[in-house]
Amino acid sequence: MKNGEAVGGGGGGSSISPLVSFLLGAAMAIVCILFVVSASPGRRLADISAWSNATATAEDTPQEVAAASNITAAPSPVQAPAPVSAYGDLEEVLRRAAMKDRTVIMTQINAAWTKPGSLLDLFLESFRTGEGGVARLLDHLVIVSMDPAAYEGCQAVHRHCYFLRTTGVDYRSEKMFMSKDYLEMMWGRNKFQQTVLQLGYNFLFTDVDVMWFRDPFRHISMGADMAISTDVFMGDPYSLGNFPNGGFLFVRSSNKTVELYRSWQQGRWRFFGKHEQDVFNLIKHEQAARLQLTIQFLDTTYISGFCQLSKDLDKICTLHANCCVGLAAKLHDLRSVLDVWTNYTAAPPEDRRAGKFQWNLPGICIH
Ligand SMILES: *[C@@H]1O[C@H](CO)[C@@H](O)[C@H](O)[C@H]1NC(C)=O
Ligand SMILES: *[C@@H]1O[C@H](CO)[C@@H](O)[C@H](O)[C@H]1NC(C)=O
Ligand SMILES: *[C@@H]1O[C@H](CO)[C@@H](O)[C@H](O)[C@H]1NC(C)=O
Ligand SMILES: *[C@@H]1O[C@H](CO)[C@@H](O)[C@H](O)[C@H]1NC(C)=O
Repeated sequence: MKNGEAVGGGGGGSSISPLVSFLLGAAMAIVCILFVVSASPGRRLADISAWSNATATAEDTPQEVAAASNITAAPSPVQAPAPVSAYGDLEEVLRRAAMKDRTVIMTQINAAWTKPGSLLDLFLESFRTGEGGVARLLDHLVIVSMDPAAYEGCQAVHRHCYFLRTTGVDYRSEKMFMSKDYLEMMWGRNKFQQTVLQLGYNFLFTDVDVMWFRDPFRHISMGADMAISTDVFMGDPYSLGNFPNGGFLFVRSSNKTVELYRSWQQGRWRFFGKHEQDVFNLIKHEQAARLQLTIQFLDTTYISGFCQLSKDLDKICTLHANCCVGLAAKLHDLRSVLDVWTNYTAAPPEDRRAGKFQWNLPGICIH
């Protein structure tokens, strides 16, 4: 827009009549708008568009043209095929998986994590060997796949699979922490979460390297707009001084939380090069105040991780392989954790209470 005005103003100084000059300026503005729209290559729609049964992959372009033409008031293109939905079968998958209160559990995988004996196997095994009905929560788990192989891997073992088509990143392999692809993946995940909120679903997002031993929902406050796990829990669940970890994150769908996600996404450019967790830390104070958000930080006694390990097996609900870099290290330590847990659950109550069971320490990461 700014460029358009500048050019139009320059034209006014010459012999061209004011009307022509105005029209030229307007035309330039339109060109600018079109340029901006086409320069951001379909992020908004293409990021989230999905692959339903390997069909309908090329729907992005007509929608973009339609959106741009509305802005510039040009006649609409003759027959843009009515796309099924910008999200593919996302709404259908969410509807099938949701609890009565429209809450879904979500995790995200790529091919490197779906091989037999890899993280997805351990993740699902934890639910099945968990206690107090945590296995039933699998009915509400949506596994978001980042590449075709992961989608296939998901379908072989689970009912609710969704293919998230993303542009420009090869998601198949393990991502090195803070590489360009890693950042792209983390921000893509953030954007996807916003979409789920906008569709009216609350979600509990869990990394696939979180073991689920007991139902964690009982530790999430009814009044929280957002509940997030912590690397280090400082003792006060409502203090913004805690160190959040987005690998385990509950968000309740509302205008406030959608607005939070908008600001969060903008923070990507305000604090360029940072990953979403750092940006959250940078904006949490201003946004919590502006939107009057209740943000609960989860106690590591229950919602734990390798960073601050809960040693009380009678209380622990989930355990995240955080503070641990590398797939092999995570697999090693989580396997060991699951083996101890299996022995613990098989033991009589008095042995459990006697504290006979402890994690095998140290592992590669866990200590
Ligand atoms: C996928 O394809 C199979 C077989 O062609 C069909 O039975 C199923 O309903 C399809 N699923 C979706 C979501 O379109
Ligand atoms: C297009 O513009 C009309 C009115 O100008 C508006 O009602 C409609 O919501 C717009 N559509 C889109 C897709 O922006
Ligand atoms: C969001 O706000 C709009 C109007 O401001 C309202 O109609 C809508 O119900 C709100 N949605 C939620 C989920 O609160
Ligand atoms: C589990 O219990 C069996 C039998 O008591 C024991 O041999 C094994 O070492 C235990 N595993 C772990 C990981 O503690």
